[in-house]
Amino acid sequence: MASREQFSSKFGFIMAAAGSAIGLGNIWGFPTQTASNGGAAFVVVYFMMAFALAYPALMAELIIGRHSKSNILTALRGIAPNQASRILGTGVGIYGVIIASLILSFYGIVAGWMLCYLAESVTSLLGWDSASQWLVSFGNERNIISMGIFMLLTMYIIANGISGGIEKWSTRLMPMLMVILAGLIIYVMTQPGAGEGLRVYLLPDFSQLKPSLFVDAMGQAFFSLSLGVGTMLVYGSYLSNKESLPRLGVMVTLVDSGTAFVAGLLIIPAIYVAKQYGANIFTEAGDLIAGPDLIFQVLPTLFESMGAIGMWVALAFFILMSIASLTSSISMLEVPVSLAVEETSFSRRQATLVIGTLIFGCSTVILFNFGTLFDFVINLTTVYSQPLLGLMLCVFAGWIWHRDNLLQEIKAGHPEIEGTFFWKVWPNYVKFVCPLLVLTTLIQSIGG
Ligand code: PHE
Repeated sequence: MASREQFSSKFGFIMAAAGSAIGLGNIWGFPTQTASNGGAAFVVVYFMMAFALAYPALMAELIIGRHSKSNILTALRGIAPNQASRILGTGVGIYGVIIASLILSFYGIVAGWMLCYLAESVTSLLGWDSASQWLVSFGNERNIISMGIFMLLTMYIIANGISGGIEKWSTRLMPMLMVILAGLIIYVMTQPGAGEGLRVYLLPDFSQLKPSLFVDAMGQAFFSLSLGVGTMLVYGSYLSNKESLPRLGVMVTLVDSGTAFVAGLLIIPAIYVAKQYGANIFTEAGDLIAGPDLIFQVLPTLFESMGAIGMWVALAFFILMSIASLTSSISMLEVPVSLAVEETSFSRRQATLVIGTLIFGCSTVILFNFGTLFDFVINLTTVYSQPLLGLMLCVFAGWIWHRDNLLQEIKAGHPEIEGTFFWKVWPNYVKFVCPLLVLTTLIQSIGG
């Protein structure tokens, strides 16, 4: 067998994993969830969920992945000691690959819209009115073309492999994303109304601490850290044995939740600046407008009312969104592609072409049945399947996999780990606490 590709450096891995984690979930999902869930009260619960639940689950994926050096399906089958657990591993692996592909099929649609608004900021700078009109009006033609272009970009990167594709583009794009994010925050902070937004974001309203908030925060944390579907597992499989997994895991969790928090410093104040400029920012029920309407109505109204500079702000904002989407979508596509490359005779390029086309087909079906399928797929994949799969991966790490192998893998790259807090707590934590917490929260969400 040809030697397996690896990330060429620790920095490369961190950029790739952070690129996967930091996406629409951080820049769009987190701030709007915070705004509609009691401001800083949600932030506090979210950070609890991220470190107490998502980080341990992330570690399970990284450890299984690096040990197995393979895709999610082969990995789970490989660590299963007997027939029954191998069947379970096959089931969970296939489920994970399907969910990763389904996430990409709705994510690609939304990312396509980002590309449209990015293009529109250019066409309106140039004064091409009819092109601008087409780019911002919701229609199947526009949706399919933009989603298709986004899928092609994703496929291009994945076809080029780990160091020449995923790592190369993540290390180029992620620093750019950080710079644009910082620049936008500084600009928005100087605008009228930003202070009110900051207050809403940072002052906790603990009266809003209801059970559903925990479910939302958990779903958000699993989605944001790209958990359950084998993304982090497969990225972990490209890591060298020299690296310390617990440390890398902490770093990725910190960068991801830190960026979510920082994105809130942009989005929430921007909403209130838009209010100052006369935009309507509340729904009829009195909640902040969230979801697509926020990104594609409230913010564009804001950009328009800013005058000439608004077009540049819009350009920067939609470049930010597009980069965030792309470094996440490549990690989703890598899940089925790594499986096909390792388990069939397809080359990486062929696998990328075939699978990318299939997912393009799925997205097209969703677009033609938008009203019934779009929200359904999002809920099915992110609210229920991701936590459930995260739970199963904890079960594999805690119950099914031989404990000696598990400990040995943690030790690789971190020989002095025995005696640390992580070594003492994590194995039992992932065995008992994580599954129980996820299960409780899930049952509650189904009941409620
Ligand atoms: N973490 C990404 C985001 O926040 C989404 C994602 C989910 C990526 C699952 C990969 C796998 O947007």
